[in-house]
Amino acid sequence: MAAWLASCRRFRFGAHTVTWYSYLRPAASFLSTTAHSRSLHSFCRASQVICLSKMAKAVSTCCIPSRQMHVSAAPLHATYKSKEGFSNDALQLIHTDLQSLCEDIKNDLVCINPGLRDITHYYFDGKGKAFRPTLVLLMARSCNATCGNSREVTMAQRTIARIAEMIHTASLIHDDIIDQADTRRGKLAASRIWGERKAILAGDFILSTASVALARLGNEHVISMVAQVVEDLVRGEFMQLGSKENENERFAHYLLKTFKKTASLMAHSCKAVAVLGNASVAVQETAYLFGKNVGMAFQLIDDLLDFTACTSQIGKPTAADLRLGLATCPVLFACEKYPELHSMIMRRFGHAGDVERAWTCVFESDGVQQTHALAERYCKEAVKTAQRLHDSPEREALIRLTDVLLTRKK
Ligand code: FPP
Ligand code: MG
Repeated sequence: MAAWLASCRRFRFGAHTVTWYSYLRPAASFLSTTAHSRSLHSFCRASQVICLSKMAKAVSTCCIPSRQMHVSAAPLHATYKSKEGFSNDALQLIHTDLQSLCEDIKNDLVCINPGLRDITHYYFDGKGKAFRPTLVLLMARSCNATCGNSREVTMAQRTIARIAEMIHTASLIHDDIIDQADTRRGKLAASRIWGERKAILAGDFILSTASVALARLGNEHVISMVAQVVEDLVRGEFMQLGSKENENERFAHYLLKTFKKTASLMAHSCKAVAVLGNASVAVQETAYLFGKNVGMAFQLIDDLLDFTACTSQIGKPTAADLRLGLATCPVLFACEKYPELHSMIMRRFGHAGDVERAWTCVFESDGVQQTHALAERYCKEAVKTAQRLHDSPEREALIRLTDVLLTRKK
């Protein structure tokens, strides 16, 4: 227990006080970011070199090209010159688009049945993180600026932001049924209020509404990309139901599952707004890679928060993944030091005491720190990719988004 607490303290030293609210709030300044970057970098200095051995091979297949992962002591965005006030302007513009997002989605969800209306509107209360729409709207403006067009987000690009949020929300409603979750975003899960059957249908209705909006865009390329996202979501969720027997395949399986479950939506939505902005193929690819790397990092931090955050912060119980039998990144890293975890993974932490033992192993190893370092690597890749876009307030805001992601608490 003492070791566990020490681990928590050690990790928290390197973390986390930027909130989503402060990010979106126009008055939020770069000062807070700088402070967080500093503490984050202190954390990085404390763990300079991270050996991944077997895992590195799997990681390299997902864009991170090294067997030994060096966590740089240099600032995350050493090449990025911050201009005070610059980004805040961009965020204010996004803020305006975001403000109407939930209302626009609720207007899309035209339900004759009031019962269905209540469930489908439940999560569009403006209290979610809106990470996907934020990413998509900033990417749309960045691509527009890169192409020399007006930066203003077009109607079609705004539709993609709404579609991304709708698909995400539909998948969460279904996910909470699969995971038997009681809460989501600090309130009762829809399935706990209205029952599973109605919640499934509400998820389906949101998804079908998103499909109608997508079809109306009339862009075959974009339609096929977003259809791919839905397939990926289902495949990713299905992959999560199984574990690889072969230990060497487990990390690659985890990363592929993470791409499908989380990164695919961000990657394809970013690419879709580039396509709709008539961006070149190179810019479309840049948008895709940025979304993909950010998506991978986002899920890694999500998996880490399941160990480090408290229930009141993330609005759902912690250690939920272990209890569901899931071996996420912190556990996979912990296997290096505690090979006993392999048999626990195979029985999906099903024996009495497995969850507690696995939890201890994670904190007595560097599982949490290595997961954070891996998320940082993905963010660095994302930042490198973003440098290919023209310098603009929106590009800075995208880069800033990676910091917010790495320091988020929920
Ligand atoms: C949350 O994961 C779940 C997802 C990101 C995707 C879920 C996908 C499906 C249920 C497939 C069906 C898809 C559609 C479009 C209806 P998590 O359980 O790791 O995160 P959590 O802790 O927030 O629940
Ligand atoms: Mg879940």
